[in-house]
Amino acid sequence: MPTPIIATIKPFYQELKPGQKILWCSCGRSKRQPFCDGRSHIGTGLEPVLYQAKQDEEVLLCGCKHSGTAPFCDGTHSNLPGGYVDETEAVAAATLPAVVAPDTQGFARLDGRCYVVSPGFSVADRATDYRLRPLVTPALGAAHQSQFYLELDRGASPVFTADGDVVIWLSHGEGNAIIGGRNFPFSGGCGVHVVAGETFRLEGQNIAAYVSVCPAVETLETVDAIIDGFDESMADRLGLIDKAARSAMGPRYFQILLDDHHGLDNSALFIGHIPMSKAEMHRHLYEEALIILSGEGMIWNENARAKVCAGDVIFFPRKHIHSLQALSPEGMDVVGFIHPGTNPGINYY
Ligand code: FES
Repeated sequence: MPTPIIATIKPFYQELKPGQKILWCSCGRSKRQPFCDGRSHIGTGLEPVLYQAKQDEEVLLCGCKHSGTAPFCDGTHSNLPGGYVDETEAVAAATLPAVVAPDTQGFARLDGRCYVVSPGFSVADRATDYRLRPLVTPALGAAHQSQFYLELDRGASPVFTADGDVVIWLSHGEGNAIIGGRNFPFSGGCGVHVVAGETFRLEGQNIAAYVSVCPAVETLETVDAIIDGFDESMADRLGLIDKAARSAMGPRYFQILLDDHHGLDNSALFIGHIPMSKAEMHRHLYEEALIILSGEGMIWNENARAKVCAGDVIFFPRKHIHSLQALSPEGMDVVGFIHPGTNPGINYY
C-alpha cells in the first residue's frame, strides 16, 4: 500500500459553494495544498480524491493525508508524531489575559459568546425538592443547542418533551429515567437519549442532570403526564462508560457515549480526560457545552480567562478560538455535548 507523506499536521478550513468540486491531494506532495497540483502524485501509486459539495459547506480538509474519512479530517493527525502539541509555559506566560470573575448569576463571560456558568451558583429556591435552571439557550448566546441543569432531591421531576433530540448526562444520583412509558434504571455517570417528541421524566434521589436539547430551545416544555409512545427503532437509549471504547487524542482521550449510532442527528455526547496541561489555542466547527466532572482549570480565550471547577459548564460557540488548561495534578474529567458534528477529536487553528 503506497504511503502518503504528511503535508501539514493540521487540517485546512475551506468554504465550499453548492456544486463546487475540489481535487484533494492524497499523496502529500502537491505544491498546492490541500489540493492536487496535477503532477506531484505521479509515480506514487496514490491518486487525488474528487469531492463535490452538495450545499454551502464548511469543511476541514485533511493535511496529514492519513485520515480515514478523506478528504476530510477525522482527527487522526493528533496521534501522529508532532500532531498534538501542548503549549509551553513560556508561551502561555507571554500572553496573560485578565481573569474574568462570575457575575451575580454565576456567569463568567469571556470573548464573543463564550462563557463559563456554575449551575448551583444562584439556584433561587432550595426549599423545593426539584430545581431547573437554563445554562445554554439562544437567549444566553447559543445557536445550535440548549442545556438545562436539573436537580432532584427526591421524588419525580415534571414530565418534559421537546421537538428535538434530548440528551441527558446523569451526573449524580440514582433512580429511573421514564421515557414514553419505558423504564431505564440508572446510577449516576451515564448518558440518556430521548427521541424527539417522546415524553420523559426522572425519578429517584439526589439527582443532578444536564439536559441538552438540539435544535436549541429557550425552555423545556412540560406536559401533564407520560404519554405511551417509545420509538422501538432506537431502543438503545443509555450511553455507558466503557474504557475499552476510548479514543486517544494525543495525551488526552475521549469516549463517545451517544451519537448517530444511537439515533442522534449530527450530535454527540462524550466523556473525556485532560491531563495536567494546556492545549494550543484551537477552534471547532461544532458548538459545544463542556461539563467539568472533576479537577480544576482555566479556560483561555484571546482576551480573557476564567477559572473552572467540577460542576461548571463552558459554552463554546462554533469557530471560537480557545484553550482549556487542566491545573489539577490528576487532570480533569469532562463530558461534552457537541452539535453540529459527531467527532470531538477534530479541531483546527
Ligand atoms: S489533518 Fe489529517 S486527520 Fe486531521
